[in-house]
Amino acid sequence: MANVVVIGTQWGDEGKGKVVDLLSAHAHRVVRFQGGNNAGHTIVVSGERFVLHLIPSGILYPDTRCLIGNGVVVDPEVLLEEIKGLLDRGVSIDPKKLGLSERAHLIMPYHKAIDMAREKAKGKSKIGTTGRGIGPCYEDKVARVGIRAVDLTEPDILRQKIKANLKEKNFYLTNFFGCEPLEYEPMVDTYLSLSRELSPFIVDVSTELDEAVRSNENILFEGAQGTHLDIDHGTYPFVTSSNPVAANACVGAGIGPKGLDSIVGIVKAYTTRVGSGPFVSELTEGTGKYLRERGQEFGATTGRPRRCGWLDLVVVRYSARINGITHLAVTKLDVLTGLDPINLCVAYKYRGKRLENVPTKLSELNGCSPIYEQMDGWKEDISGARAFEELPKKTQAYIRRIEDFVGVPASIISAGSGREETIVCKNPFDG
Ligand code: GDP
Ligand code: IMO
Ligand code: MG
Repeated sequence: MANVVVIGTQWGDEGKGKVVDLLSAHAHRVVRFQGGNNAGHTIVVSGERFVLHLIPSGILYPDTRCLIGNGVVVDPEVLLEEIKGLLDRGVSIDPKKLGLSERAHLIMPYHKAIDMAREKAKGKSKIGTTGRGIGPCYEDKVARVGIRAVDLTEPDILRQKIKANLKEKNFYLTNFFGCEPLEYEPMVDTYLSLSRELSPFIVDVSTELDEAVRSNENILFEGAQGTHLDIDHGTYPFVTSSNPVAANACVGAGIGPKGLDSIVGIVKAYTTRVGSGPFVSELTEGTGKYLRERGQEFGATTGRPRRCGWLDLVVVRYSARINGITHLAVTKLDVLTGLDPINLCVAYKYRGKRLENVPTKLSELNGCSPIYEQMDGWKEDISGARAFEELPKKTQAYIRRIEDFVGVPASIISAGSGREETIVCKNPFDG
């Protein structure tokens, strides 16, 4: 029995969905613990592509139970659409397969309206959010005015809470942003009707996990976003509003801090970022465009083109420290095939000084330029490799350099979007 956490080491979209799907073969339960439908996790099985936003990436396995923890913010309409979309494609989903924590906070229409109004008002200095209402929902949770999944089971309380919130939110939306007010009755009707469909899925996730641990089950925790989008440890304020770091698997699912065994950090073989914010190794032309096309770097949630650049090892080493990463999973290695030489960012230069770590001051980070180390590229097709030794020597050297720099072994190497296009050197469930 082991508990494994999968997290992103960069700015999201590292390939967490693919790796969680792969590891789900060994898991009894898969749990999302933070974020919401700002996430877009892609799985490709037998050529069929699934993009999941809220439902954990273990859902394609018939005997794996998927849980949405208390730390997730849930748009009930999106969750129902996602359930229906999967059912339409023949994936079985019922309350035996999927559970939603009664403590999870709900994204309401006013959260989305505020998210979008704020971004519009910020103009050029916008964060570039996904517009899904994530930040405003977490704000309400902390302000202690949030509406939780459990409130869907008590219609009178749901009505009262919507009424109280709308009074304040409509004042803000109309007077501050000049938006139209949102109507009470249709909102209540919508949420009551959603509650009828979602109530059977609402459970006590923490107690369920405790029982699962006592029964020696393997549990897989699925992070969303990435460490450098973390509200505390990321490139603030160009971050999301939750903690994607591994420690939050405990808070966001309701288990104790001694309960985690392996921490898998997903590292895309180069770097991408969606939305605004510092990105030291960004390449706006040439190779940047090549990576976007080759790697199909367009947002799984918003379709926005992702900004691309060389692998920033300063960023990844920082993530190894913050998360206590025990295993690396290097993804999208195939995308680098044909590029020669390959650059690796190993330090930053700021006003003539060499920095070994990511500076906290945004002004400093914005003024940093990358210090690169060059490595030889390879030309061979690597998507068929199923063992480390089958990779070209130069690809092996690239992986070894990442391991050396970060101080963590690469247990999983991915060279294609398909489930089988993977090399597993060590299974994180085996320690
Ligand atoms: P996530 O948010 O971390 O789950 O990542 P996304 O799904 O948003 O983005 C990763 C993209 O890369 C998806 O389209 C995956 O299908 C794809 N992908 C994952 N691993 C590989 C890989 O090793 N090679 C290639 N070419 N694509 C991959
Ligand atoms: P997955 O799980 C990449 C980014 C947004 C924006 C910032 C804040 O697929 O890796 P938010 O809507 O969260 O308030 O936006 O965070 N962002 C992501 N970028 N992958 C994600 O998720 C992201 N979720 C949020 O683009 O810059
Ligand atoms: Mg994604």
